[in-house]
Amino acid sequence: MKFEVVIMVEITWLGHACFLITGSKKVLIDPFLSGNPTAARKPEEVEAEFILVTHGHGDHVGDAELIAKRCNAKLICIYELSRYFAKKGVESIGMNIGGTVNFEGVSFTMVPAVHSADVEDGGEIISAGNPVGFVISMDGVKIYHTGDTFVFSDMQLIAKLYKPEVMLLPIGGFYTMGIEEAYRALQLVKPKVAVPMHYNTFPVIQQDPEKFKKLVESKLKVRVAALKPGESLKYP
Ligand code: NI
Ligand code: MN
Repeated sequence: MKFEVVIMVEITWLGHACFLITGSKKVLIDPFLSGNPTAARKPEEVEAEFILVTHGHGDHVGDAELIAKRCNAKLICIYELSRYFAKKGVESIGMNIGGTVNFEGVSFTMVPAVHSADVEDGGEIISAGNPVGFVISMDGVKIYHTGDTFVFSDMQLIAKLYKPEVMLLPIGGFYTMGIEEAYRALQLVKPKVAVPMHYNTFPVIQQDPEKFKKLVESKLKVRVAALKPGESLKYP
């Protein structure tokens, strides 16, 4: 007789593009907590084994250096950004788009995003490579964090290759896609559940998640979990 153990993965939105994904490992993405008016936790309250950073902008790098050092976490980002972290004394894994790294059955695949990327280093602006997204595979669940991006047709290819069931995507507009574009992105990827992010942090990205939920759920077989900062979703 075979027993199938169903392990739930818990996805907690900490505000803006920051998520803590907890399963057999603790994975933190884009930890912008200090200086984030909507952050659900302080940087010293977060525990992580892995930290993924999608690009060099301040609202994504955030407290990555601080948390990586305190938790001795593995930081994963694009090669050019890893050189910035190396200067800060954080030994990071500098991979690139299309690559996958695997740690004891948990994998991280770097995928493209349509955005811009540089990083501020002591008042100086330096290049930080390309902006990216990640597909995280943990405990049989695949989660696609798009990073800051516009909708692009290659999302279909990302869907075909990695079959994400949960998609974390921006709806705020101005810096990223807004509601209409995010709806199109879900049409391309067809996940089971979508969690909107990157909105209501600042006045310029004010957005109504209920409007997004209504639009998506009336047209697609995708459930929208419009979390409040600090709230979690369990999957499956
Ligand atoms: Ni950005
Ligand atoms: Mn951003």
